[in-house]
Formats: sequence, structure tokens, C-alpha cells
Amino acid sequence: MNKITIAIDGFSSTGKSTVAKQLAKYLGYAYIDSGAMYRAVTWFAMKQNIINKEKFDVDSLVSHLDDIHISFIFNKEVGFAEVYLNDENIEKEIRTLEVSNFVSKVAEVSEVRKLLVKQQQKLGKGKGVVMDGRDIGTVVFPDAELKLFMTASAETRAERRFEELTEKGDTVSYDAVLKNVQERDYIDSHREDSPLIKADDAIEIDNSNLSLEEQFNLILELANNALEENA
Ligand code: DC
Repeated sequence: MNKITIAIDGFSSTGKSTVAKQLAKYLGYAYIDSGAMYRAVTWFAMKQNIINKEKFDVDSLVSHLDDIHISFIFNKEVGFAEVYLNDENIEKEIRTLEVSNFVSKVAEVSEVRKLLVKQQQKLGKGKGVVMDGRDIGTVVFPDAELKLFMTASAETRAERRFEELTEKGDTVSYDAVLKNVQERDYIDSHREDSPLIKADDAIEIDNSNLSLEEQFNLILELANNALEENA
């Protein structure tokens, strides 16, 4: 069967994972959340006290990389693959604002990126995959048949993330979420190794004013076009 690779990049909280999950389900493809892998490494570093508000011991993290085993296991109940660190399900733990506050720092480390990119390329080897992240169309799968670059204003994204977090019972302020979104935008797009940039051949989608349904229909059309071109 004709299968393609779909790379979805963009700033944080642009709804990449929502549309990636919808698309993967519709096409019968695997969905891989590459951000969850950076979050898993961050969670590990937090647990080992390698990173905290006062310090980040990069050398220690690099020397512990062999102890980090990340896997995805499909959970029928939620309909997507959850992330495991050394056989422990950490899907919930990695979604907190605390992890979000440290993850961009961890994602700046070249050794971490090298390791995760290798694993991501292995996961997507057989095509039929939708992967979202920051460098999927530029570094992980530069030959992906369909590349999307999602954007939305920082305020729109902070509102979405704030609602998500408060629904889960996290007590956070909107201002703290907006600050986190803006800080991550800055670090993600200014880091030396694989900064967040739109691939030349990526299609930009600003979803500030699109409903989920409108966005999905638009992206499905693009996916069908890419499949036709690849046939
Ligand atoms: O998509 P997310 O918000 O869960 O990603 C968490 C962080 O991981 C994000 O701030 C940047 C980093 N990341 C990255 O550098 N490269 C990727 N392919 C995915 C995420």
C-alpha cells in the first residue's frame, strides 16, 4: 500500500498533537509525539536531580543517557501510544508546567538530540507515520512527503494550554502559561542545534481562527494530495 511520512512542526501549543492524532487515526498510521521523548528525558533529569531551578548539570545528563530507555505503548482506552521511561508509564507526569519549564533547556543539548533523532528515524523507517515536533521536517525526516508548519498567536496558544492544564486540575495562572509559551518559543527558535524553523517545502497553517473541524478537513485534503502525488 502507498504510505507516506507526515511531519508536523511548529511552536508549542499550536495543536500539532491534536491534528497529528486525528490524521494518524484516519489514515491508520502510527502517531509519534517526539516532544514526549524530550519531556521523558527531562523527567529523568528532574528525578535524578540533574536539573532544578538552581542548576542544570549537562555533563551528568550526557553520562546518564545510556540509562534512558523510551518506548511508546498503544493504550486502547485513550486511542494513542503512551510514553514509557524504563518501563514506567510517565504520560501524565511529563505534561506538567514544571516539565514544560525545563524541557527546552534539555532539548538544547546536542547529545540528547542526536540520540532521540536516531530513535525517531528508526520508529519512522517503514513510513505510514505522523510525527510532530520542532525539527521533524528539517532534520528527522527531510524527505517527508508532507510537511506542515503550524502557527497561532502566543496568546491563543497560552489560552488553549491554560484551559488544558486547569481542566486537568493544575493550579496555574494564565500569565505563567503565557510566559512559558513565550520563553519556549524563544529558546526553541534560537538554539544552536536544530532550531525551530519552517522547512522550505513545508506548508504553513495558522490555526488562530480555524475550528478543529476546519483544520482537520484542510489537512486531510493536503494529505490526500500528497498520497496521490506519491502513488
Ligand atoms: O511538543 P512539546 O511541547 O511537547 O515539546 C516539548 C519541548 O521539546 C519543546 O519545548 C521543544 C522540544 N522539542 C524539540 O526540541 N524537538 C522536537 N522534535 C520536539 C520537541
